[in-house]
Amino acid sequence: MATLTQQPAAVPLDVFPDGLKTTGQHAPLYDHLVPFEKFPKKIEGPTVWDPEDYRNTPERWTHRFTSEEIEELSVASDNFLNNKIPLTGISKSNFPLPNLAGRLDQLRADLVDGKGFILFKGFPVEKWGNHKSAVAYMGLGTYLGYFVSQNSRGHVLGHVKDVGDDPTQIDSVRIYRTNARQFFHADDSDVVGLLCIARALEGGESDIASSHLVYNILAAERPDVLKTLTDPIWYFDRKGETSTGQDEYIRTSVIYMERDDGNAAKPPRVYTKWDPYYVRSLSRFSDAGVIPPLSAAQVEALEVLEATCNRVSLHMILEVGDIQFVSNSHVLHARTAYTDHAPPTPRRHLMRLWLATPEHEGGWRLPFWDSNEKKRGGIQVDDQAPVAPLDAE
Ligand SMILES: [Fe+2]
Repeated sequence: MATLTQQPAAVPLDVFPDGLKTTGQHAPLYDHLVPFEKFPKKIEGPTVWDPEDYRNTPERWTHRFTSEEIEELSVASDNFLNNKIPLTGISKSNFPLPNLAGRLDQLRADLVDGKGFILFKGFPVEKWGNHKSAVAYMGLGTYLGYFVSQNSRGHVLGHVKDVGDDPTQIDSVRIYRTNARQFFHADDSDVVGLLCIARALEGGESDIASSHLVYNILAAERPDVLKTLTDPIWYFDRKGETSTGQDEYIRTSVIYMERDDGNAAKPPRVYTKWDPYYVRSLSRFSDAGVIPPLSAAQVEALEVLEATCNRVSLHMILEVGDIQFVSNSHVLHARTAYTDHAPPTPRRHLMRLWLATPEHEGGWRLPFWDSNEKKRGGIQVDDQAPVAPLDAE
C-alpha cells in the first residue's frame, strides 16, 4: 500500500521566505480509497448541522472583535511592518498574539473538528487600509493554518474580485475572478478565509452547507448518487495550472474516507472535495477521447448534490470588515452572482486566505501523499515563488 512521503529537498529561502513550499494538487493514493460499502450509513456529531440550528442564533457562530483584540492585532501588525519582513514570511513567531492565541486555538479546533465555520466582525479595514489589513489578516490566519498558494502565480493572499474575465470560458478562467454565481464547492485547502474589503451593489452573498448533513440526506434518499460520488471516476480540470510534466486533469472521487490508522478512538471521517466547474470544463479532452465524458449518472449526481446543498444552506452576508472562515473538509460553500457599483465606487473585493492544517498538527488524515506536509494542498506550479499582492492583478 502506498504511504505518505516527505517532500524530497529543502526549499530555497530566497524563493520561499518561511521555508515552506505549497505541495499543490495531485492524485489521491488510490489504494487508500475505500469502496462505498465501507462508508458509514449515517454520520453523527457536531459536523452534522442543520441551518435551523444556527439561522436565528448568529451569536453561536459570530465573534465581534473586542477593542482589546483589535489593539493586539494592530500592535502586532505595526511591529511586523516596522521590521520590514516580506508579507510572505509572516508566521506566528514574527506575529505574536499573546492573548488572542488561546481563543484562536479553540476556534481552530471548532473549524477542523466541529461545525466548521465562523464569522468574525469588526476588522477595521477602512481605518487600516489594505496593507495593514492584509498584515493583520494573514497574521491572524497563521494561528489557524499555514497559508498556501492559491494559483499558478503563487498568490498566498488572494483577491476575489471581478477583473472582467469571461466566466463562460470555464476551462481557463477561475470563477473567483468573475461576478458569476459559484455553485456549492470546496476550495483546494483545508480552511478558506474571506475578508470583506468592499461589497457589491447587489448579490455576492454567501451560502454554506454541512456536507455531513448532505451526506446523511443522500444516504437516506439517494444512495445511488452517493455511491457515484465515492467512485474515483471523476476527472477534475487543472485549468492549465500544472507543473512541468503533470497531467492537465486529476482522476479522483468527490467523497472520500479519511485514512484508517487503526485508532479506534478516531475512526475515519467522511471528507468531500468538490467543484462542479472543474468537472464540467474538460470537454477539450473528452471530445478528443482522452478521458471519458461525464456519464448520465455523474451529471445527475452533481445536480442532486447542488440541489441538496441548497435545501440545507445557511445564508450569510459579509459586511465590510467581516471575516468568514470555513473548513473545506466538511463544509461546502457557494455565492450568488452579483452586480458591482458603477465607478468610482469600489468593486466587490474579498481578500482570501487558503490555510493548511497538516495531519501531525491535528488536521484530517487525507488519502494524499502530502497529508503530513505543513503546506499541503493549494496550487503550486513548479518553483513559483509565493507573492502577496495587496489587490487583484
Ligand atoms: Fe470557494
